Amino acid sequence: MSSEFMREKHIAYIQSLDNKQDELEYWLSEHLRMSGIYWGLTALDLMGARDMLPREKVIEYVKSCQHPNGGFGAHPGHDPHLLYTLSAIQILFIQDALDAVDADIVAKFVTSLQDPETGTVRGDVTGDEADTRFVYAAMQCLSILGKLDQFDVAKAVEYIDQCKNYDGGYGFVPGAESHAGGVFTSLGALAIANRLDLVDKDLLSWWLCERQLPAGGLNGRPEKLPDVCYSWWVLSSLAILGRLDWIDRQKLREFILDAQDDEQGGIADRKGDMVDVFHTLFGIAALSLLGFENLEPVNPVYCLPERIMGRVKM
Ligand code: FPP
Ligand code: ZN
Repeated sequence: MSSEFMREKHIAYIQSLDNKQDELEYWLSEHLRMSGIYWGLTALDLMGARDMLPREKVIEYVKSCQHPNGGFGAHPGHDPHLLYTLSAIQILFIQDALDAVDADIVAKFVTSLQDPETGTVRGDVTGDEADTRFVYAAMQCLSILGKLDQFDVAKAVEYIDQCKNYDGGYGFVPGAESHAGGVFTSLGALAIANRLDLVDKDLLSWWLCERQLPAGGLNGRPEKLPDVCYSWWVLSSLAILGRLDWIDRQKLREFILDAQDDEQGGIADRKGDMVDVFHTLFGIAALSLLGFENLEPVNPVYCLPERIMGRVKM
């Protein structure tokens, strides 16, 4: 807990994750290592400390996780999955190293996951889990690679529109209740498609700002506990809608800073819980959107440093 942003401790915490190979915690997180690197690297970049992770080693690691079908696993030898493929492309993009991989084969993997009938996208080739997380991931990945023209954007937009509810929010699949994570993935995909005209902006902005609880934190749905990662899912959505001023920024800042670990660094989901690199990134990215702590500006659609967005090929 602290009312000051502990930049140096957060940098040290993220760096320490790279040196934990002899600890159980490191092996337990193997199944999401690729995304862990994206979360850590982006957080470092927003704090102006991108060079604190070894660039060449990171690029080699990413390459070693690519499967012959073009997709990336979380760790060498793991099955390819769209979410790790997005993280891999985001990492290479931050490192300005996209030429380390063959964009055509990556795009082929990503586009193969779209259902031509419904427009939805699966997470991997074997599973049948399909929702707007994967539509968003596919579109961000392809737009960074400059290959969005190989994807049925119109069908994907139709699918997202079917996830829209009477309250202005979006669920992850058609008919599911509104969820701030689903709002973020839907708005992100619609923003990339340049179809934000489909959004009921006022109604959705109300639903989003009602996510702020009296203590300042944001939740993902009515009746849920506040959680630092929802500072990102909700706030980035309000930023996309141009309504960041609809919430109490100072109170949200205090909620996020209270969730810091003032000894080892890092940010937890809420005060008193164990920190992790996922909540560390989304806490820092939310503080960046709020304009606090002298952080690098973050892009609300891509969750990447604004500085590199000019390189998106689209
Ligand atoms: C809440 O999850 C949030 C989501 C499910 C959104 C996830 C978005 C992606 C995976 C796309 C990639 C994102 C970025 C920023 C590049 P939860 O499982 O914590 O939900 P719960 O709070 O209901 O448990
Ligand atoms: Zn969370």
